[in-house]
Amino acid sequence: MNFIRNSTRKLPSRVLDPRNALFLGSRHSFNPPCYEHELFCKGKAFLLNSNENPQFHAYPSRLLGFQRLFRNAQKSNCIPSSVYARCRSFSVPCGLSVYSTGASKVRHLSTSVETGINDNTFGRIYIQNSISVKSKSLAGEETPLDEVGNNVKNTGKGLEEGKGGVSIDSDIEKEAWNLLRDSVVTYCGYPVGTVAANDPGDKQPLNYDQVFIRDFVPSALAFLLKGEGEIVKNFLLHTLQLQSWEKTVDCYSPGQGLMPASFKVRTVPIDDNKSEEVLDPDFGEAAIGRVAPVDSGLWWIILLRAYGKITGDYSLQERVDVQTGMKLILNLCLADGFDMFPSLLVTDGSCMIDRRMGIHGHPLEIQALFYAALRSSREMLTNEGSNNLVRAINNRLNALSFHIREYYWVDMKKINEIYRYKTEEYSMDATNKFNIYPEQIPSWLMDWIPEEGGYLIGNLQPAHMDFRFFTLGNLWSIVSSLGTLRQNEAILNLIEYKWNDIVGQMPLKICYPAVENEEWRIITGCDPKNTPWSYHNGGSWPTLLWQFTLACIKMGRLELANKAIDLAEKRLSRDHWPEYYDTRSGKFIGKQSRLYQTWTIAGFLTSKMMVKNPEMASLLFWEEDFEILEICVCALSKSGRIRCSRGAAKSQILV
Ligand code: GLC
Repeated sequence: MNFIRNSTRKLPSRVLDPRNALFLGSRHSFNPPCYEHELFCKGKAFLLNSNENPQFHAYPSRLLGFQRLFRNAQKSNCIPSSVYARCRSFSVPCGLSVYSTGASKVRHLSTSVETGINDNTFGRIYIQNSISVKSKSLAGEETPLDEVGNNVKNTGKGLEEGKGGVSIDSDIEKEAWNLLRDSVVTYCGYPVGTVAANDPGDKQPLNYDQVFIRDFVPSALAFLLKGEGEIVKNFLLHTLQLQSWEKTVDCYSPGQGLMPASFKVRTVPIDDNKSEEVLDPDFGEAAIGRVAPVDSGLWWIILLRAYGKITGDYSLQERVDVQTGMKLILNLCLADGFDMFPSLLVTDGSCMIDRRMGIHGHPLEIQALFYAALRSSREMLTNEGSNNLVRAINNRLNALSFHIREYYWVDMKKINEIYRYKTEEYSMDATNKFNIYPEQIPSWLMDWIPEEGGYLIGNLQPAHMDFRFFTLGNLWSIVSSLGTLRQNEAILNLIEYKWNDIVGQMPLKICYPAVENEEWRIITGCDPKNTPWSYHNGGSWPTLLWQFTLACIKMGRLELANKAIDLAEKRLSRDHWPEYYDTRSGKFIGKQSRLYQTWTIAGFLTSKMMVKNPEMASLLFWEEDFEILEICVCALSKSGRIRCSRGAAKSQILV
């Protein structure tokens, strides 16, 4: 394998990222490009990144056809094989160079980042070894300190005692805690994440021995709710270091701001028979199918907010490097493309379903996480220099919620409307805007849809509605209030009515129904892992339990959550904590399911803790924001040419 150490390599292109410039300290002087030009135009914010037009691709597709002059220049020296990312301290192995904080100081520095940084500033804010890990004093003593000198281990210590009373764990919970702790990955002696699975019988772990960003979220929440913030803080800061590290597929790099799908801590030899640990991220360039991890950055932002909310340590999100990382993700998501819709356009397999399953386009899961990440960012962005970005976020939130509420929603009434749709309507006033042919309504849906209840469909494209029920997207629409209050209630009602289909013997189905026969051949490309009612194709994933529990707590349906938790509790330990279950009712442990899957374990623990302490859980969801609803981007437009297409929307579902 090709390993290049920072000390011997040319400076990577990433040093042009102002955050990296900060890492270099005053030794390297150059003028970083203007970080972000914000141009507000006709009520719509355009965020232009001076280096490139970011997008979500793991390979050189010409889908959007953007030019990347800077990257292209770099490509002549490209290193096509995998390179390792070392911690970014250029002098001290395992010591990370980050910035000093202190809220007011950060706000000041934040402005400097956005307006250009002078070398003196670098010098002032360059400090070493301050990532909430043990700082090594000159005398060699190690003390866990954060950057302002506080002990950060167990930042939320006393959460349980203070808010919910001390709870006694059952034997299954105790077992789960032991397993969760066994899955912890350390980097230079400090906890930074949890492996995806810790299955001792697994002869071919593939990348399940890595820390996945999305998989770590329930682990993080379990630790946070337990009052152990250190691992989460370390995870957030270390993954930030990896953001868009220079990985390539066929000499093509992912967009700036992309967060990896996963990372691994590797031990590599250095001189004199010594070795050191390095963090090796995977942006999809090694993943099966070379899938782009669009959800990683969204989860990272959501987790950053959760860390602040649960620990009360808001200094992390105020740090200049963290603010910059968040803005890079947002720029990537908010960049203009050829797209016509406010929803994010992504390739197949760009989220939890990370292989071909016909979810390319505008899958609900990505939209719901995008919405939650935008809401999180709006809360966390420090004021200075972010006004235009916040305005862009507000506009997008408004447009996205309208789009999803209006066009993704189906219930019996709506399906009847679609059933009677006229087609080929050319005008701004079309009812059937996406030219959906009624014959597309699958026969299973006509029978299945209950008289009460409804859900958000999986995807919407021109002349295409994916009517499958995708659980994660629907649950996050509830949690983030992407859906209206009535829609959110109706989704839980539908799950209740269709309990046998969506929960069955193991909560919960990743999607319903499975694609079978010819459809399976066309949609999955004959994927033997995604056969009907297995894995991503209608398999049951216990990790979805925590998101279901959270949605139930939010909607006051605790009894539903408890019913599902009871089902899981009866089997998970006995079955050795499988990754997923197969068959229509989730009766069997999945064909190729890993055992001791960490997010199964953590999802169970998080669910248990949330029902014991709903007040704490309430920090993790969002209520309707009526201010967002009041904005209408079109109304801000001065141009007479632009007509508000909302006028033509018939049902006007807003609240
Ligand atoms: C599978 C899942 C993905 C998960 C990974 C690690 O690929 O589809 O969502 O992150 O395993 O558990």
